[in-house]
Amino acid sequence: MDLSLEPSHTEEERASFLSECKKQTEKIGWLTDALLKIARLETGLIAVTKISADLVKTVRDAVSSVTAQATAKGLPIIIERLPDTLSFAHDPVWTKEALCNILDNAVKYTKAGSITIALEQGPLYTHVDVADTGIGLAPEEYAKIFARFYRVRGHAAQRVEGTGLGLPIAREIMRQQGGNITVASELGKGSTFSLFLQNC
Ligand SMILES: Nc1ncnc2c1ncn2[C@@H]1O[C@H](COP(=O)(O)OP(=O)(O)OP(=O)(O)O)[C@@H](O)[C@H]1O
Ligand SMILES: [Mg+2]
Repeated sequence: MDLSLEPSHTEEERASFLSECKKQTEKIGWLTDALLKIARLETGLIAVTKISADLVKTVRDAVSSVTAQATAKGLPIIIERLPDTLSFAHDPVWTKEALCNILDNAVKYTKAGSITIALEQGPLYTHVDVADTGIGLAPEEYAKIFARFYRVRGHAAQRVEGTGLGLPIAREIMRQQGGNITVASELGKGSTFSLFLQNC
């Protein structure tokens, strides 16, 4: 900020300083937001409340929020095995948030290929699977990536912006609804994250 006020700098230099300041301020904003969210979820200040709502709408709303990002990277989002509607006990706002975090990762960590979403109903749980054709993960990372601030070292993910809070927030949201998130992946081939919700 101070540098941009120096009279010796050209207009161009000032504009570049200010644009960098804007980027940094935005990053601090995202980080504060994510930290507050996880703290409020864990301390019960935010209540995740299940109501009967259309789970298909929740999934479609989450997909809409990453469509522009995916299109910009040339990644089609393919929706498979999704009924027209499905009345299901879940928190639509927070489940959408969890799905958005998973979809955001699928887009961020995939260079080419596609992202596929599917919904499957089992006897006890219903799960939404988000599969990508991205950089993938080694098996020893599966558990670690759900820890706060963890980002896989030395893999292409480090060149992508992130705070390492998206997955811990998503898992906490699913756990508070009696569900969970699982991951299956292959390095260099892609990953599938499955969000499990209890049927009742
Ligand atoms: N679909 C994926 N493919 C490959 N690696 C992934 C994928 N999703 C997550 N990861 C790895 O797990 C790490 C943690 O993910 P998480 O979403 O918590 O944080 P982030 O994406 O780095 O930052 P943000 O807080 O912005 O979400 C990522 O940094 C990345 O290394
Ligand atoms: Mg993320």
